[in-house]
Amino acid sequence: MKNIFEKYTCPTVGMLKNRIVMSPMTRGFADKDHCCTDLMCNYYARRAKNGVGLILTEGIVINKSGDGYNNVPHIETNKQADSWKETIRSVHKYSSKIVAQLWHCGRISHPDYLDGNAPVSSTDKPADGINRQNNKSYGRPEALTIDGIDKIIDMYVESTNKALKIGFDAVQIHMGHGYLIDQFFDDRVNDRTDAYGGSVENRCRFAIDLISELVNIFGSEKIMIRISPSRYMGEIYEWRDLDKMLEHLIYHFNRVGLKVIDISCANSIYHKTSGLVARKIRDLGWNGVILGGASLSVDEANYEINHSILNLVTWGRYILANPDFVQKVANNENLINMSDEIRNSLY
Ligand SMILES: Cc1cc2nc3c(=O)[nH]c(=O)nc-3n(C[C@H](O)[C@H](O)[C@H](O)COP(=O)(O)O)c2cc1C
Repeated sequence: MKNIFEKYTCPTVGMLKNRIVMSPMTRGFADKDHCCTDLMCNYYARRAKNGVGLILTEGIVINKSGDGYNNVPHIETNKQADSWKETIRSVHKYSSKIVAQLWHCGRISHPDYLDGNAPVSSTDKPADGINRQNNKSYGRPEALTIDGIDKIIDMYVESTNKALKIGFDAVQIHMGHGYLIDQFFDDRVNDRTDAYGGSVENRCRFAIDLISELVNIFGSEKIMIRISPSRYMGEIYEWRDLDKMLEHLIYHFNRVGLKVIDISCANSIYHKTSGLVARKIRDLGWNGVILGGASLSVDEANYEINHSILNLVTWGRYILANPDFVQKVANNENLINMSDEIRNSLY
């Protein structure tokens, strides 16, 4: 029987000391220049020291025009990129691997975060609701032109280049949770009438073009993606044409040479969301690596591995609240639950 504590060789990041992955989690502790700080370095190093095999960083914004949050890291300038070097070095010292999650918020933003400029999106409709970051309505976005889409692909190339140069083991392109690339996938958001809107093929074009470009330039061993076709947003929220979307995406991700997909459900119930999506993706013949999870028990995680659904299992809030998560689960000890106090501190 396979289990989460055994070594695993991943086509992107290589040998992992176990199958336990820290989910990407935005914390809002970057400095005023959007650089990684010593406190952040200690936070990641502590998880590596305590046994997490693979760390996916919090979302790192690829360019200031893609921000939407307070105090999150960016990777647009050399100074911002270099600020991660010590974190990478520390994580590697403990024989763990670290992948940079690259993030563009699209319309989940506001001019307050964009030097007064409008956010960009697939659409010019603002997102519903209030931005909890500044307690204002989301900003009205400008719909990207085709030239604008090409420029964003260039920003991903630039930021991937910077991330790999300073030593991240790979990058993960955040394509989920309603952010920019998801704003193209989702037909309730994407109202375009050009080659990037309408049909399944058109709504997937941005993501496929982007991954094709990144794999061509950097190699498939450096690129991972995160998608969330079925996730939590007050209730379960799914792509309406889930099966057709997955069929199209998986065919093309295979074709362009992608090897690793992380399926997120935000903080939804895994078995009702990404667990089902992972099974659909396997049924479509995806032989690559799948990461997934959401507060699974060790038995549930091992079940998914032994049934060849997941290869690596992600935990978010438990690893945040329990820096010694790996020892605790190995010894069958109780885990501390996440609280607001824990969320608002970094240790
Ligand atoms: C504080 C916090 C911040 C998060 N930030 C991100 C993020 O930056 N990128 C991302 O893809 N997911 C983010 N997530 C979602 C987590 O990666 C994860 O999918 C979710 O917490 C469910 O897993 P869990 O039940 O193990 O916590 C965040 C979750 C939390 C709790």
